[in-house]
Amino acid sequence: MAEPRIPAGFDFTDPDLCARRVPAAELAELRRAAPVWWQAQQRGSAGFDDDGFWVVTRHADIVEISRSSHLYGSWENTAIIRHVRTVTQESLDMQRLILLNIDPPEHTKLRGIISRGFTPRAIANLRDALAERAERIVRAALEEGTGDFVADVACELPLQAIAELIGIPQEDRKQIFEWSNTMVGDEDPEFADSGLAAAAQLLGYAMTMADERRKCPRDDIVTKLVNAQIEGGHLSSDEFGYFVLILSVAGNETTRNAISHGMLAFFDHPEQWDLFVAERPQTTADEIVRWATPVTVFQRTARADTVLGGQEVKAGQRLGLFYRSANFDEDVFDSPEKFDITRSPNPHLGFGGTGAHYCIGANLARLEIDLIFGAIAQAMPDIRKVGDPERLRSGWLNGIKRLPVSYH
Ligand code: HEM
Repeated sequence: MAEPRIPAGFDFTDPDLCARRVPAAELAELRRAAPVWWQAQQRGSAGFDDDGFWVVTRHADIVEISRSSHLYGSWENTAIIRHVRTVTQESLDMQRLILLNIDPPEHTKLRGIISRGFTPRAIANLRDALAERAERIVRAALEEGTGDFVADVACELPLQAIAELIGIPQEDRKQIFEWSNTMVGDEDPEFADSGLAAAAQLLGYAMTMADERRKCPRDDIVTKLVNAQIEGGHLSSDEFGYFVLILSVAGNETTRNAISHGMLAFFDHPEQWDLFVAERPQTTADEIVRWATPVTVFQRTARADTVLGGQEVKAGQRLGLFYRSANFDEDVFDSPEKFDITRSPNPHLGFGGTGAHYCIGANLARLEIDLIFGAIAQAMPDIRKVGDPERLRSGWLNGIKRLPVSYH
């Protein structure tokens, strides 16, 4: 294979680069010429005490890693590939309490309990409440005439969905939303530093909620998760706290960005918008998630010396699973550069590489995307862009901060 043409010093997780654009052309170059490529980094520059990581770009290799938790762990260095500050033992210990960073066998038991909240029935039960919320969000935006699509529309439903799922009382929601928003925007200077404090407050709130339900059980999901009487185990108050924390991180910003990028994709492909308004294809949400790939990359750490895609990988080395690249892999998708809401099959890895950590909220996310675009198509099919989107500064999230639109 020829040497890949990647400029010297290029860093695939550089937040300043990602604030400008997704490195799509460079990822395509690696898929072609060096599908498992060493990203050299100055020691400590990404928060880790090492000299870089392997950039993994092909769909097949990412699936292989995701399905081999015994060989590629999430616990060692967590799933987040880039940090603003040095990763200390203390912050590692804290991150290792959330599902995303726990490996089997502990992961299997915890996920078994948590999945009680995500059964098809539990998600179906949310449909009516969320449909009503989607309509209300869109109606309020329409009354404004013009505005920021991210703040007015994309932000709201994912927050409401998590609050509905957990049963957070209406009067507490505003505060919870503020904590979640502060927590996730950590790498962006606009949100810096207050993240940890917000996480601690959210954690405290959730733990208290768990304690209360244990004392006074109700017919709700919190009780189902924390009640020791239920067969198959239960979550301690701490575990429940971290469960709420991961939902706020994993289910909030990801879905928001899928919705914002989806809207942008429709602006850029008006014929697809016309098709959606007329026919509402069932395949739309998955194509939006493929196209948006809100999580550009998560990482794993090799537990033993191994070989991946012909490349030797040493124990202890980190590997970046570039879902964004897998979702445009020419070996898997016909015309991957085409935004096609009727695409089928669509084996995208936007929700992960189909292993133990595959997104537990995938069906909820699909429902939210269907409902919000359904409501937009119904109430304001003539929505249009009136300014350029502003991107989030993050080395691993493909985020949009602002998107000026006219709702009429
Ligand atoms: C479009 C929206 C979403 C995207 C793109 C997304 C993406 C992902 C990805 C890439 C993973 C890691 C998969 C892996 O490592 O193999 C993940 C895990 C997870 N997601 Fe999502 N997600 C979305 C929405 C949600 C929602 C709505 C929720 C819940 C309310 C949620 C909860 C979680 C949880 C709890 C995990 C950890 C699962 C585990 O470690 O076992 N996600 N998600």
